[in-house]
Amino acid sequence: MTPSRPLPFSRGARSPRDADDSTEPGHAGPRQRLRGLLGRPVEVAERIEHASALDDAAAGLTRVVHKALRRGGTANVLHGVPLGQPAHPPLVRVPIGCWASATLLDLLPGTAKASGALIAAGIAGTVPAAAAGLADWSALHREQQRVGLVHAASGATATALFSASLLARAAGRHRSGKLLSLGGLTVAGAGGYLGGHLAFRLGAGASHAEPVAHLAPLGWHDLCRVRDLPDGKPVRKTLGYLSLLVLRQGTEVRALADHCAHLGGPLHQGRISTEGDEVCVVCPWHGSTFLMTDGTVVHGPATARQPAFDTQISPSGMVQVKPRG
Ligand code: FES
Repeated sequence: MTPSRPLPFSRGARSPRDADDSTEPGHAGPRQRLRGLLGRPVEVAERIEHASALDDAAAGLTRVVHKALRRGGTANVLHGVPLGQPAHPPLVRVPIGCWASATLLDLLPGTAKASGALIAAGIAGTVPAAAAGLADWSALHREQQRVGLVHAASGATATALFSASLLARAAGRHRSGKLLSLGGLTVAGAGGYLGGHLAFRLGAGASHAEPVAHLAPLGWHDLCRVRDLPDGKPVRKTLGYLSLLVLRQGTEVRALADHCAHLGGPLHQGRISTEGDEVCVVCPWHGSTFLMTDGTVVHGPATARQPAFDTQISPSGMVQVKPRG
C-alpha cells in the first residue's frame, strides 16, 4: 500500500508559515528572525531602556544642555512651570499636526501649495518643541534618558525627511516629496510611541506627588512633638503611608509632601533657601525649588505644585497636620 501524502496544511504537514516560524534551535525563519529583532513595540522600548551603549552620548548631551540652560526664567518656561505642566507635549503637537495634515492633503488633487506650507510650518514648530524636550530630558533618570535619546533621534530624522520632502517639492519632484513625507510621518509616529512610553510607563513629566491627595487621611492628625523638631533643619516624618518634609523655624512649623513632584526625590535631604522673603526647599536630585508655605514651584524641572499641609501646635506641644484642600 502506498503511503498517502499529507494534504497541504493538514495535521502533520508543515506549511510555508510553519517553516518560516520554526522554533528549532538554529532554524529560525526570516519572519521569526525579524520578529526577534523588532519584537512588540513595548519590547523594543524596554530594550532601549536597557541600552547602556547610549549612556556616553546621553552624558555628553546632558552636559551641553546644563551649560546652555541656567536655572531661571528661560529654563522655567521651557520646562512649563508657568503652565503647571510640561511644555513639550503641547508644543510637539504643532509639527505632528502640520505634517499629518500635509500627508493627508497629498492624497487630494490641487493641494501642493497647502501641503508645502504645512510642512514648512511643522519644521518651524520643531524648534520650540525640541528646546522644551531637551530641557526636560536633561533632568531625567538614566533609563528615561536612553528612551528619550532615541525619541529625540526619531524627531530629528522625521524633521530631516520633511525638509528633504520640501526641497524635492520645490524642485518639482512631487512624487519623491510625497514619499519622503510618508517616511517622515512614519518615523515621527514611532518617535511618538517612545514619547508615550517615556511619559506613561516611565513616568517622565507626570507629578510624582499627586497620590498624596488620595493617601492622606482627612482632618487633623498628630505628627510629632514640636520639641523633637530641630530649628531650621528639614526632617522627614511619617503620617500613615505618607512621608512628610517638616521644617520648624522658631515657633513656625511647615510641612510638604516629601517625595518631589518631579521624579520623587527626597525633599527632606534638600537645601533650605530663600527667594525674596519666602522660605523654599531645593530638591537634592535636580534642583526643583518649592515654596515651603504652599508648595508653589519657584524653579523647575518640576511643574506641579508640591502638596502642602496645614499645621498647628496643640496646647500640649503636639504638631498636628491636615492636607490642604
Ligand atoms: S526629583 Fe527631580 S527635582 Fe526633585
